[in-house]
Amino acid sequence: MFFLCYFLAAASASVRQTFYRSERSQNKTIEVGPGNLKLNYSGNEGKLTNYANIRNSIKAFLEQSYSFYSANDGTEPFISPTDGTEVFQPSGAYIFRPNGTHPIKSEGQVSFTVLRGSLLDEVHHRINSWIYQITRLYRDKEHAEVEFIVGSIPIDDMIGKEVVTRITTTMKSNKTFYTDSNGRDFIKRIRDYRSDWDLEVNQPVAGNYYPINLGIYTKDNRTELSVLVDRPVGGSSIVDGQLELMLHRRLVTEDDKGVREGLNETVCVVDKCEGLTIQGKYYLRIDPLGEGAKWRRSYGQEIYSPLLLAFSEQDGDNWANSHLPSFSGMDPSYMLPDNIAMITLQELDEGKVLLRLAHLYEIGEDKDLSVMASVELKKVFPEKKIIKITEMSLSANQEKAEMEKKRLVWKVEGSAEKKSRVLRGGPVHPEKLVVELAPMEIRTFIINFSRKQVHH
Ligand SMILES: *[C@@H]1O[C@H](CO)[C@@H](O)[C@H](O)[C@H]1NC(C)=O
Ligand SMILES: *[C@@H]1O[C@H](CO)[C@@H](O)[C@H](O)[C@H]1NC(C)=O
Ligand SMILES: *[C@@H]1O[C@H](CO)[C@@H](O)[C@H](O)[C@H]1NC(C)=O
Ligand SMILES: *[C@@H]1O[C@H](CO)[C@@H](O)[C@H](O)[C@H]1NC(C)=O
Repeated sequence: MFFLCYFLAAASASVRQTFYRSERSQNKTIEVGPGNLKLNYSGNEGKLTNYANIRNSIKAFLEQSYSFYSANDGTEPFISPTDGTEVFQPSGAYIFRPNGTHPIKSEGQVSFTVLRGSLLDEVHHRINSWIYQITRLYRDKEHAEVEFIVGSIPIDDMIGKEVVTRITTTMKSNKTFYTDSNGRDFIKRIRDYRSDWDLEVNQPVAGNYYPINLGIYTKDNRTELSVLVDRPVGGSSIVDGQLELMLHRRLVTEDDKGVREGLNETVCVVDKCEGLTIQGKYYLRIDPLGEGAKWRRSYGQEIYSPLLLAFSEQDGDNWANSHLPSFSGMDPSYMLPDNIAMITLQELDEGKVLLRLAHLYEIGEDKDLSVMASVELKKVFPEKKIIKITEMSLSANQEKAEMEKKRLVWKVEGSAEKKSRVLRGGPVHPEKLVVELAPMEIRTFIINFSRKQVHH
């Protein structure tokens, strides 16, 4: 929909970065961060201690650490809650059944290096021989980006290990945290509790684990701690004020659920086989209470669909004369509202396109952005004339009106009188061509364009 072209040339003057290597004897704290966000590390061991944002005066105690869960090998049974028999269940690819948690201490000499530049600062940590971490703080961003490289997990002791990172604050989160459902709604989770039935806690860790696709957050009466991920991982808040993500697993037993092998993926180079190494990123931020959603939604969208970089060598000097250096399919003076994302734009046959627009916010999630939004299709497609617009079902296999007619009407016990109406955008006027979207609504359209271009 939009592209920009940059021309890169070799710089004549070499770019100098100041380089800083901490000394273990040094007892001062080290402040890192070229912008509003500052992280403090203890000078002697390079441990993260504090988070501060000088723009909104957020100051918080913050720690980050690595641990692993040792896998249950199935020799310790548990009593089945359904039939009272003993079950010998090892951890495996499908089953997470830890029997203990073990902090991963830095081995020997702590390797802690700070690199400072004009656009970003980087903190490099070599935790041990198989965990490496780079924390990046950008001048124009108010979150920390943490890149982790975990593996190969040692299993010489024949103990399966599931490696987590923990982010610890002093927030009084009262057992409550939130995880996304398929990257959309955030669902409230309460540790050791289910709203629909009385939970008997047999697995205090695994029973509180949830899939994380977009992110996880927790809050108290003052602040919100949010973590966004670049891939689906497991996560939880096992202790108040703490969030954890499971980054990697390597197991020696199998869980008897069908794969018939332990989760022991290896990579072989020549004759040497090692456990898989995982490299990924997560993003971390603390906001005043009620202000975290804006970052989780808008930056979450940037993680999910980042700018696509493409490189090409310039052929001669006049490439720019024969090519467009920038292009926007939309009216240059128009922008989609901040709470709307275009999630599909696909060309179909006969001059038609499939368009999906999504509202990114839930009701009540943000004081400004959890409102009805509208998109002006005439400005989204300024060069085209829309002759017909048809609203479709989400999968676009039938018209929405047809689908609504076929929909079963459920009689729900106790909800007969008060039928809560779901808020939705209204029909699209064929002349005005403005699409309304209510919080969390996704609308799908097939648009027929006229074959003739619009001339200005
Ligand atoms: C903690 O959460 C429980 C419900 O899970 C609630 O009843 C209680 O009021 C909360 N306490 C505080 C201090 O918010
Ligand atoms: C927040 O909760 C703490 C106790 O958990 C309480 O002492 C404090 O007064 C509360 N602050 C506000 C602004 O409600
Ligand atoms: C893990 O995989 C490697 C490579 O395939 C193999 O050599 C090793 O024996 C396996 N270990 C276990 C405990 O299954
Ligand atoms: C829109 O496209 C469909 C499929 O090509 C076609 O059947 C229909 O006649 C078109 N509608 C208009 C108004 O051109």
